[in-house]
Amino acid sequence: MPTREFLLRLSELYDEFQQHDAKQCDRLQRFRNIEPDSAQFISMLIRTQQSQSILEIGTSTGYSTLWLAEAAQATGAHMVTLEIEEKRSQQAKNYAQELKLDSVIEFWTGDAAQYLQQAIDSFDFILLDAERSYYAAYWNDLQRLIRKKGGVLIVDNVISHAAEVKEFLAIIKQDANFMTTTLALGAGLFMVVAK
Ligand SMILES: C[S@@+](CC[C@H](N)C(=O)[O-])C[C@H]1O[C@@H](n2cnc3c(N)ncnc32)[C@H](O)[C@@H]1O
Repeated sequence: MPTREFLLRLSELYDEFQQHDAKQCDRLQRFRNIEPDSAQFISMLIRTQQSQSILEIGTSTGYSTLWLAEAAQATGAHMVTLEIEEKRSQQAKNYAQELKLDSVIEFWTGDAAQYLQQAIDSFDFILLDAERSYYAAYWNDLQRLIRKKGGVLIVDNVISHAAEVKEFLAIIKQDANFMTTTLALGAGLFMVVAK
């Protein structure tokens, strides 16, 4: 279970990030961190699955990364997190060091598409939380990376930005290799499980 110290620090960080985002007119300048309810649910899923390998697409300043890493530490997993902006990745890394979670995280900086194309090993658990317009193009690689039975993919913002992910979700829903559901938590989570 996450410690009281972890929960307090994460709550502080979330408030800081929210205050930052409230001042930005440009969407891309916002950190757009996942909602706390969603983060806690993801932590529970990782514990339930006893995930051993975790991938995050879209680190931002690391709010979700820290939640994933805390759960990864509990299950003995290794995780990789992808972020295109070097400065954000470094900021997230600093928090991970502060919370002594850096040993379970590999911070990868660059275009997620490039990472996904070259990735060979599958992951037990993937969180997709980057630029929605690219999601459909990621699917070929994503399905290869969660093909193992019981592999889980979570996509954030499927209720808050339903129109932007409609086509992507439709592709997955018609794929007989996966079970899917939408959860009304935070901004809406789409859960995909490999059969
Ligand atoms: C919604 S935010 C992620 C929030 C983070 N998961 C959290 O909850 O704290 C999306 C992030 O994806 C990054 N991003 C956008 N396009 C990307 C790409 N092609 N490859 C890697 N990261 C990308 C953005 O820079 C941004 O920081």
